[in-house]
Amino acid sequence: MKLTWLALIYLNILSFGMVLAGRDFYKILGVSKSATLHEIKKAYRRLAKELHPDKNQEDPDASRKFQDLGAAYEVLSDEEKRKKYDRCGEDCLQKDGMMDGSMDPFASFFGDFGFHFGGGEQKNEAPRGADLVMDIFVTLEDIYTGNFIEITRNKPVMKPTHGTRKCNCRQEMITKSLGPGRFQMMQQTVCDECPNVKLVNEERTLELEVEPGMMDGQETKFTAEGEPHLDGEPGDLILKIKTQPHSVFERRGDDLYTNVTITLQDALVGFTIELQHLDGHMVSVTRDKITWPGARIRKKGEGMPNYEDNNLHGTLFITFDVEFPKQELVPLEKDSIKKILNQSSNNRIYNGLRGH
Ligand SMILES: *[C@@H]1O[C@H](CO)[C@@H](O)[C@H](O)[C@H]1NC(C)=O
Ligand SMILES: *[C@@H]1O[C@H](CO)[C@@H](O)[C@H](O)[C@H]1NC(C)=O
Repeated sequence: MKLTWLALIYLNILSFGMVLAGRDFYKILGVSKSATLHEIKKAYRRLAKELHPDKNQEDPDASRKFQDLGAAYEVLSDEEKRKKYDRCGEDCLQKDGMMDGSMDPFASFFGDFGFHFGGGEQKNEAPRGADLVMDIFVTLEDIYTGNFIEITRNKPVMKPTHGTRKCNCRQEMITKSLGPGRFQMMQQTVCDECPNVKLVNEERTLELEVEPGMMDGQETKFTAEGEPHLDGEPGDLILKIKTQPHSVFERRGDDLYTNVTITLQDALVGFTIELQHLDGHMVSVTRDKITWPGARIRKKGEGMPNYEDNNLHGTLFITFDVEFPKQELVPLEKDSIKKILNQSSNNRIYNGLRGH
C-alpha cells in the first residue's frame, strides 16, 4: 500500500516535470486554447513587433522570448502540429522531429532582413533595388471582419555561383605621366572583384493583415521583399489594399449604403426585413409607417468598424425603392383603393419642365 502511494507521487512528479519542460504556446501568444488561426496570426504579428530583439536591446531575455514566440507560432499555426501539441505537448513534437524551427514567420509578416523600426541609423550609401508597389484587391467582408491574405511571391534571391564579377564600381581620378613634368588626369571606372551571384526564384509566403476598417489605398510594407540589387540591398515591397466593388453594400468613409426594393403593399402597410450583414449577422428593419420611394432609414452602429477604434462603427443607410404591381386592377378593386386612399385628384403638383 505504502509503496503504491510512493509510486503515485513519483509518477506525479514525473508528469509535472514533463509539463514544465514543454513551453505553453497558448500563453506565449496570449490566446485561448480555442483560438482561431486568425487570432493566432493576429497575436503573433502584434507580439513579434513588440518583442523583436532589435527593439529590446537592453533586455537580456529578448532573444529567447522572440524564439519562444516563433516556436509558438510555428506549432499553433499548423493544424497537424497543433493537434499533436494539444494531445501531448512540446516534448512529443520534439521527439517526432516536428519542430525544426526552419520557418521564419517574422519574414512572412514583415519581410526579410529583420525589422527596421523607423531607424534613421540604417541609412548608408549602399545602392538599393527598387521598391515594388502593388495593389491587392480585398473584399469588403475582409475589411469588415479583418483577415489575413496569403500571398505567394516568387522572389528573385541571390545565390553564389562560380567565377567572379565586377562590383562596387565607382569613378576614380588617376594621373598618368606623359613624360617629364607632364601629367594627364583622367577619370576611370574602378571596380572590385566579387564572387559571382545569380538570381534564383524562390517561393515565399507573405501574410498581409487586412485590419478591420482599413481605408482604400492603405499600405503595408514588407522590408526587403522588393527588387533585388546585386551590389546592395533589395527594395521594399509595398502592398496597397483596394476594395473590390460589393454587390450589396457601398462604403463611404465608415458608413455603408445599400438599396432595398419593397413591394407597394409593404410600402403602404409596413414590413419587417432581415438584411444579411458583411459578417453574416442579420440586421432587422421594421416599419409600420408608409415608406415612399427614395425614403432612407439609418441604422446607427451598423456601418464599417472604425480603423483607429474597432469598437466604433459608422452608420448603415438603407434607401428604399418601391416596386409597383404589374397586374391590371378590375373596376371594383379600383374603387376600393380610391375609397381607402381618399386622395384628392385636384391637387396635382405640376413640376413643369425647367426653361420651357
Ligand atoms: C443605390 O441606388 C443608387 C441610385 O440608383 C445608386 O447610385 C447606388 O449605387 C445604389 N447603391 C448600391 C449599394 O447598390
Ligand atoms: C376624404 O377626403 C375629404 C377631403 O380631402 C374629407 O373631407 C373626407 O372626410 C375624407 N373621407 C374619409 C372617409 O376620410
